[in-house]
Formats: sequence, C-alpha cells, structure tokens
Amino acid sequence: MRSEMSDRAREVLEGNWQDGFTIPCKGLYPFQWNWDSGFIALGWGHVNMERAKQELRSLLKGQWSNGFLPHIVFHNEAETYFPGPGVWDVSRSANAPATRTSGITQPPVLGYVLEQLYEISGESITDFVREIFPALYRWHHYFYTHRDPHQEGLVYICHNWEAGTDNTPVWDAIWAGLDSPEYQLNRRDTQHVDASNRPSNREYQHYIHLVELFKSWNYDDVQIADKSPFLIQDPLFNALLMRSNEGLIRLGQLLGKEAEVAQLQRWHALSKTHFHEKLYCPNQKGYVYYDLRGNRRLNALSSSSFVPLLAGVPPTAAADEIVSAHLDSGTFSGVSGDFYLCPSFDPSSPFFDPKRYWRGPVWINLNWLIYHGLRRYGFTEVADKLKSDTLDLLEECGFYEYFDPRRNLEPGHFRGYGGNHFSWSAALYLDFINRQTL
Ligand code: GLC
Repeated sequence: MRSEMSDRAREVLEGNWQDGFTIPCKGLYPFQWNWDSGFIALGWGHVNMERAKQELRSLLKGQWSNGFLPHIVFHNEAETYFPGPGVWDVSRSANAPATRTSGITQPPVLGYVLEQLYEISGESITDFVREIFPALYRWHHYFYTHRDPHQEGLVYICHNWEAGTDNTPVWDAIWAGLDSPEYQLNRRDTQHVDASNRPSNREYQHYIHLVELFKSWNYDDVQIADKSPFLIQDPLFNALLMRSNEGLIRLGQLLGKEAEVAQLQRWHALSKTHFHEKLYCPNQKGYVYYDLRGNRRLNALSSSSFVPLLAGVPPTAAADEIVSAHLDSGTFSGVSGDFYLCPSFDPSSPFFDPKRYWRGPVWINLNWLIYHGLRRYGFTEVADKLKSDTLDLLEECGFYEYFDPRRNLEPGHFRGYGGNHFSWSAALYLDFINRQTL
C-alpha cells in the first residue's frame, strides 16, 4: 500500500511540474504559490533534489527589491484563476520585480524547509544553501523592519490570503466591520469545485476590496500599516517565522554568516519575549489572533492555534494544557475520538463547518506542522495519532486538498474535498513516510 501510494504521490508532483516549478493543482491553482512551494520542495527532496532546488529558485524570481516575497508568482499564462496579474497590477510599486507577482505574501515556511532539505541531504546541498540563504534572510529582514509597528517581534498580516487559512471564521469579526463594494466577481474556483466547499461571494468581495485598497496605496507598507482595515498578528504566521528563524540561524552558523546569525537571534529573542504573553489565551487554552486595527484579541481557536508548539513558544505547562484540552480526547479530537485530527476550526463552535474549506476540514500541511510541534515537546503518542489520521485520510481518499473531519459520515459520503492531485498533500505524504523516525 505505502509503496503504491508513494508512487502515486510522485506522479502527482510530476503531473503538476511545469518546467521549473510546481503548481498546487491543475485548474484551481495554475501558478506558483509561496508556502505551497516550500512544502512541495520538501516532497521533491525525497524524489529529486534538483527539482527541489529549481522549485525554490523559481519562487525567488518573484522577490521584490525590499525583500518581500509574494504569495503568487505568475511565471506562466493561465485563464483559470481569479484574481490574475492584471487585477494585482503590482507595477504600481517601485519595489516590484520584472516577473509578474501578487502583492501580498504567505506564511514564511522557507527557512524551515531549507533546514529540512539540509537534514535530508546534508553537505551535498551546502552550495545551494549558500546560494539562497541571502534571499531568505532578506525576507525575514523585510518582516521585522516593515511589519512590526510596535517592535514586539510579532509581524502583522494585512490580508486573509496572507494567513494561508483564507476563510477561517476568525475573520468574520473583521468582515462584519467592513462595507466592501459589491464587486462583480469573475470567480473561476467555483467552476472547478462545489461552491458549497469554498468561500462565499460576499467574502470574496472583501478579499478583493483589500486588494483594491493596497493598489490605491501603490502597495506602500507605511500606508498599509496606517490604514488597512485588516491588520492581524496571526499565531501560525508568527510561529512559522520563528521556526524559520531557527532554521536560518542553524544554516547561517554552518555558512559562517556571523552578522546575519546575530541579527536573526536578536529578532528571534524579541518574538519569543512577546508571543506567549500577547497571543496565548489561558481561558481557551490556545493561541489566538490579535487585531491591531481594533486593538482586541479575536478569541477563536483554529488549527493555527496549535502551531506555536512547532517554534517552542509555549512554556511546558501551557503545552500540556493545549494538548489535553484539545488534541488528546479534547475539543478538536472529540472526547470519544469523533474527529480525525486536526479539524481546521473548533468543532465546538457554532461556526464550525466540516465541509467548507478553512472552516472545519482537515488540511495536510497544518497536520504536518502540528505533528512536528507535538514531537518537539515529546507528545509522541498524540503525534503518532495525528500522523496515522493523516495517512489514513490520504490512503482512503487520495491526494485531495482538504478532508471532512467527521469520523462517522453517512454511507456513500466521500470525504475528500477541493482539488484532487493536490501537490502539498502528496509532497507531505512523501515526507511523512520517508522519515519514519521523525
Ligand atoms: C488556497 C489555500 C492557500 C494555498 C492556496 C494554493 O488559497 O487557502 O493556503 O496556498 O490555495 O494552494
């Protein structure tokens, strides 16, 4: 079974390879996406290291002159996605590169991925690490110098697509305060998959409204920080930034990059000082989001609430309470194991929807991040449970984009949703099964 699935996973990556980079999924996502490429590169690392290198090199072609790394790079032409490069129109920014890109970023997984590729390959990729280290360092430099207005080591995101968790119910509180125009949308996603498994049209109007605002400010970070109605410190995003700091610190030490290592260590220490204090909610026993525009916590738990384990953020007592309240016969697993780990939103909430994208379904990349977080703290049993749930879902359904977390479904109901032959589901399957001892 495993070896057959592993062949199919390779076929998915091969099928989505576009001569230099890998698309997340045919039709639905026909360009190169930022954090997808990180996970995908790791998958390629088990199959063909040259492809892993090309994947990351291609993504970096989209880097802006200020270090910013966009969430989509439009290397190719495709008519099947909205909003395309014309809508983004990033040439309004003096920082934009010649390659066409979007104007927002995505969770910074690349420093962590590069360290993991080094784990897989060792010294044979030292030259590659030396080649791309400076670009990744510049990206972190951009975050800490442009997106941390209070100098707390907690960077903001200014768009829900930057979170990677597009339509989580956490954002509902932000949309409720917005009066976005009723744009005529030219959505393509709902031509590929069932609209009831995707964000609503009203939500899409808010997403486009934010893009229109950023365009009107020529993507200027100062204006965005001053005026964007969406300005959030997100626990997943900041935990990945910290875990990637750790990766870059380790690799920078190997390369003898003393000044960069010292700077990364200072930023990292600053993040560590404020993260737990500002984003941990003792009542809910998990990390929540901070709305900088509204000066309030957004008190809801999602799978992002557990990712700080990956970066060693919680003190041990907090880590214990997170796991026992939610993951080990708790809210997210269900007391009698009603759900596959890990639903993307709190199943005890009235806003939980097991079919709709980031409002409940299981996502493989989040499972992978939480798995490594659990291992870091020594929660081996829960980690193994999460891993076997992940492999069961993939082996039962195939490499779908997201999965219905309810264990008991009505007969005949298929639990794989969204795009099929989805790259990061295949890539992370390969990482899960090829690194048994992790
Ligand atoms: C969706 C996901 C996002 C992902 C993108 C491409 O927008 O929410 O996290 O990067 O698709 O797969």
